[in-house]
This record gives sequence, C-alpha cells and structure tokens, in this order.
Amino acid sequence: MRIVKTVAEMQSVCRELRMKGSSLGFVPTMGALHEGHLSLVRRARSECDTVVASIFVNPLQFAPGEDFAKYPRTFETDRRSLEAERVDILFAPDAAEMYPNGSVTTVTVSEVGDRLDGASRLGHFTGVATVVAKLFHVVGPTRAYFGQKDAAQLAVLRQMVRDLNFDIELVGCAIVRDTDGLALSSRNRYLSAAEREQALVLHRTLLRMERMITEGERQSIKLAQTGLETLNAAGIHVDYLAIVDANTLLPVKSVETGTLVAVAAHVGSTRLIDNFLVARDFALSEV
Ligand code: PAJ
Repeated sequence: MRIVKTVAEMQSVCRELRMKGSSLGFVPTMGALHEGHLSLVRRARSECDTVVASIFVNPLQFAPGEDFAKYPRTFETDRRSLEAERVDILFAPDAAEMYPNGSVTTVTVSEVGDRLDGASRLGHFTGVATVVAKLFHVVGPTRAYFGQKDAAQLAVLRQMVRDLNFDIELVGCAIVRDTDGLALSSRNRYLSAAEREQALVLHRTLLRMERMITEGERQSIKLAQTGLETLNAAGIHVDYLAIVDANTLLPVKSVETGTLVAVAAHVGSTRLIDNFLVARDFALSEV
C-alpha cells in the first residue's frame, strides 16, 4: 500500500491511474478505523480496480468545544487494517497540507445542510462538504463510499455532488453494528462500561419504532412520542429524534418509503447517532 502525504503527489498518482482507465473507489475517513469503515473498503475493493482510502481528522468540521483535540488517532493500527484489506493507496495529509495558510474557500450546502446535525453542530456540514469536495478534486474517484450511519452527511453530500456536477457515484453502505446492536463509531471508545450499556437504548428505541411501523403505525407524531418516551425513561439526553425525508431531511407527517428515522443523543459527554431507513413495502432496512 502506497502512503501519500501531499496533495501534489496524490493528484499525479490518481491522474495516472485514471489515464490508464482504472476505476477508482474512494473511502474517506477520519481514522480510528473499525468494521464499519472496513465494510466500505471491502465494498470498494469488490467494485473498483483501485481502492483509495484517506485518513484526515478534519478540523473544519468540529465546532469549538467539540472533541477535535481528543479525537482518537491510531494511524499505525489503521494502516495495518487498510493494508490487510488490500487498499492500494492511503492518502494521509496533515492539516497544513489540506488547508495551507491563506486558504479561505468553503462549500456550504444550504437548507439540507442546516438540518439534523447541521442544526445542532454549527458549521459542521460546511466543514464536511469543504473537505470532501477538496478530496474529490484531489482523488477524482469513479465511486465514493459513505456509511448510512451518517445519514444526514450522505444527504448533504448527495446534494453537493448534484449541485457542483461532480462526476462521481456516491455509494451508501449499511450500518455495521456490534453484536449487542450498538452502531460502530470511533467515538464509542469514549464510553465507560455503564455509558455503553446506556447507549444501547438508542438502537432499542429505533427497533421499537421500526416494530410500530411494521405493525401499521404511520403517524410520525405517535412514533416520535414513543421514541422520546423510551429515550427519556433511560435518562438519555436527546439532541434530536427526527422522522424526515431521507433526501431533504425535512420532517414528514406520515412515514413512507424513503423516510429516515434518525436519533442523536448525548450519553455522558459523548454524542452518538443512529438511524434506520423505511424501505419499500415497509419491510425495513438500513440501506
Ligand atoms: P468517519 O466518521 O471516520 O467515517 C468515515 C465513513 O465511515 C463515513 O462514510 C461513515 O458514515 C462510515 N461509517 C462510520 N461508522 C459506520 C458504521 N458503523 N457502519 C457503516 N459505516 C460507517 O464521516 C466522516 O469520517 C467524515 O465526516 C468524512 C466523510 C471523512 C469527512 O471528514
């Protein structure tokens, strides 16, 4: 696996591969890799000639007071995991390489970018869209792989790709969970044993809401009420419990195909998110 630290080298390596007709699969990450990240890598490996991953803890997407400084950085372990998955190129720039002095241009996705996490983490999606747009320019992938775990992020990036005419296929991949149901996240390692137990309530709440839907409940207000009661009873500090259209992230009154049910909550000082998508005929899935 080739490790590249500069934009110039990355651009020239990827340009050469594209000229040879190689399809490029790209998996952007912030590192502290787990099976969720690796599922995206495996999907890219199965669909593309060349697989590129990036590790960059993007300062621009953390609001002041968030966990940028303490975000886990585990480069050696990550490198070994990516090598084992047969990644061809790892792009791992530092902050000065991505945002050199004097760089001032950002990408803001209005409306959809102001909803869900965009509403509670000010500037977050501008940080995400800016870094992903830059990475897309540097790598020029054929396909880019993102987790459904960050459903709002995926909606924002789909809007950005449409609006800015990126010729890139975005591939959404299912949420990978621990055996007890907790969605894998780099932030799970912040949780104490007791908090981890409490965190399971997020998934249990979503499962309960899913069951209500399969049993025929369609009214968002009823579903939200049950969801909030379950979360509150467990002493979880809810940031949002949203029943929205998966593309626009606007609230829907009645659940239908393409509805996203998403939760964000603080467990101790750790902010966690989880969701499910309502699929056709109300059989449920996460993709
Ligand atoms: P990060 O949180 O490292 O996640 C990288 C990718 O892995 C994202 O597409 C995310 O949705 C996916 N992912 C994380 N946990 C997952 C899980 N349990 N199952 C499936 N996929 C999962 O998301 C970011 O980094 C950043 O915002 C980034 C896009 C890299 C821009 O900085």
